[in-house]
Amino acid sequence: MPTQALHHQFPPDFTWGVATSSFQIEGAAREDGKADSIWDVFCRQPGVIADASNGDVACDHYHRLEEDLDLIASLGVNAYRFSIAWARVQPQGRGAWNEPGLDFYRRLVDGLARRNIRAFATLYHWDLPQALQEQGGWAARDTAHRFVDYARGIQARLGDRLHAIATHNEPWVVATLGHEKGIFAPGIKDRAVAAQVSHHLLLSHGLAVQALRADGATARLGIVLNFAATQAASDSPADLAAARLADAHSRRWYSDPVFKGSYPAEALADLGADAPRVEPGDLDIIRTPIDYLGVNYYTRYIASATRPYDAAAAGLPLTDMGWEIHPTGLTDLLCQMKADYGDALPPVHITENGGAFPDHADASHRVDDQDRIAYVRDHIAAVAEAARRGVPMAGYFVWSLMDNFEWASGYAKRFGIVHVDYATLRRTPKASAHWYRDFLRQWGG
Ligand code: FCB
Repeated sequence: MPTQALHHQFPPDFTWGVATSSFQIEGAAREDGKADSIWDVFCRQPGVIADASNGDVACDHYHRLEEDLDLIASLGVNAYRFSIAWARVQPQGRGAWNEPGLDFYRRLVDGLARRNIRAFATLYHWDLPQALQEQGGWAARDTAHRFVDYARGIQARLGDRLHAIATHNEPWVVATLGHEKGIFAPGIKDRAVAAQVSHHLLLSHGLAVQALRADGATARLGIVLNFAATQAASDSPADLAAARLADAHSRRWYSDPVFKGSYPAEALADLGADAPRVEPGDLDIIRTPIDYLGVNYYTRYIASATRPYDAAAAGLPLTDMGWEIHPTGLTDLLCQMKADYGDALPPVHITENGGAFPDHADASHRVDDQDRIAYVRDHIAAVAEAARRGVPMAGYFVWSLMDNFEWASGYAKRFGIVHVDYATLRRTPKASAHWYRDFLRQWGG
């Protein structure tokens, strides 16, 4: 679909942004009173990060805040999604607050306000204070209460300048990749622990939403969930059942409790003895109404009863992560959410979408990333189509503002619309950044 037509398909109050997270860009890992998070500690284990890198410097955003705020403003976006590093503002995860760390976020939200850019803050984008991990981490129910205190403390200090607060980013990743597969911090491999962690994350979400409302929240409150478009490998009953179970474990495990107050029965049955301990009243807390849902979407997943999913053999073009490029899957997924939850589904923001591509920078660091432009444009078109079909779409954020630390993949996978030269930390907008700016100019808002 031509750009010309696309920008007309979004209303003037639509939210357009770019997204980042604290650990992936900030650096300054041990400055101004910041304590270790579980990702600082995880990166020190040999062999867990592809290029043996860490977040010590990252994009050095902590020291380049003003320059980066100008960069964000130059794109013409009206929103910026970032996360707060808990271990920077409350180093032990409980008790004392760290004023120098808080000052960084005060400068960030004030700088956004001065530039007329709405602040979308995520409270937890995976960097738990290590001190809390040593007391059991998310496997301990008490961590949910520590999270509520942290959320209330942030709202008291920054809340008046936040347009939106997300409690969690992608609890599926925290539970499954961090505690079942062990490829992300804290590196635990135990399905029962992962299930309990997922419940405590959801519980902490519901408790925090209730507490922030009781404290007089002015920001919109929500949660960010990651979904793949799940398809069955064939129409055989066995493959259809495999797809339904995969969808129950990855998507509905999170969205059913939030919007219906229950875990999907087939996932509970499949977990058997590994199912989480749920106390009476927990699910009522988790289903506390929210003001918006954030959806992170990158790819699809094909479920088969007989063979593992092989993205490379599935037939669609792949990104540098090896993820299939499937924009219409985003429309299907959003329509499925509307079909499943109806009026309980609040306005939806795509809080992350984008691609890693093998960018080639010329001598002046210019990157002509036509593949990323096509990816972003086709997914924006998929969002417009979902809105046409009745899904309450409210916003779209590109992942990511700039190349950054891509977790276990290190710095080799580049998701930015702005190139970062890690030797000099110089930022250079890629062709996709120019495309996004021109698209937003045409839309006009
Ligand atoms: C998501 C994460 C984000 C980024 C993208 C590529 O799962 O939320 O931090 O790493 O994937």
